[in-house]
Amino acid sequence: MMELDTTNMCSYLKRELFEEDGQHLPHKGMELLIDRESAEERIETVRLILRPWRESDAESLFRYACDPDVGPRAGWPPHKDIEESRRVIRDIFTNDRTWAVTLRDTDEAIGCMGYYIHGESNIAIGENDAEIGYWIAKPYWNRGLATEALRAMVNYCFNIKGFLTLWSDFFIDNPASGRVMEKCGFKDTGETNWCSHLYHGDDRPIHIMKLEYALE
Ligand SMILES: CC(C)(COP(=O)(O)OP(=O)(O)OC[C@H]1O[C@@H](n2cnc3c(N)ncnc32)[C@H](O)[C@@H]1OP(=O)(O)O)[C@@H](O)C(=O)NCCC(=O)NCCS
Repeated sequence: MMELDTTNMCSYLKRELFEEDGQHLPHKGMELLIDRESAEERIETVRLILRPWRESDAESLFRYACDPDVGPRAGWPPHKDIEESRRVIRDIFTNDRTWAVTLRDTDEAIGCMGYYIHGESNIAIGENDAEIGYWIAKPYWNRGLATEALRAMVNYCFNIKGFLTLWSDFFIDNPASGRVMEKCGFKDTGETNWCSHLYHGDDRPIHIMKLEYALE
């Protein structure tokens, strides 16, 4: 039987999506916009725009990242001052795998979405895999925004970047995040991980979730 070459299929989709450079390209519930001059990518959903972080987002980042209910659940300490937030934007968020999750109406950064590749992830992921991580500011919880942003990122990772398997994980005391992953199709692998370099990583095991690319 002839084997279906999913790698080619992904790159075919990728080519198709990038063919009309600078055009508005609709794709399964999200839209990818590519800036004609800078090639900067923006991912748009019904309520959100995922765009690159800017230093001018430091004030919003600090407002939400100083909350002790946000960072520790994802494994990082609350930000102490706006200068720390500015540094995080500059040194950690400025790359082509990390997006500010912004409200369509106001452009305010209310969260973060990004992915790690093989060699960067805490999970032993393969070369065609990525691990997705995210957070949303507390005033915006339980409105479906993390689910909307993660669905768009899954779509982007599979159909634009061509990854074949996506991973994500959550601390055992953070079931809301596991629920977001479930709603986006991730399945529990039954495996757990310990990450002592994460904030309070020695105290809590991490559940590992996985989503395989499915041909429709
Ligand atoms: C986890 C987080 C991203 C969820 O964001 P959100 O925008 O509120 O998520 P959504 O509204 O899309 O979905 C939340 C789901 O979790 C459920 N939920 C909320 N609290 C829960 C809890 N204590 N236990 C189980 N489920 C819970 C909600 O009911 C909802 O599910 P439903 O639609 O089936 O009712 C957000 O709380 C957050 O950023 N937390 C801090 C950082 C973090 O945990 N990041 C993820 C690291 S893995």
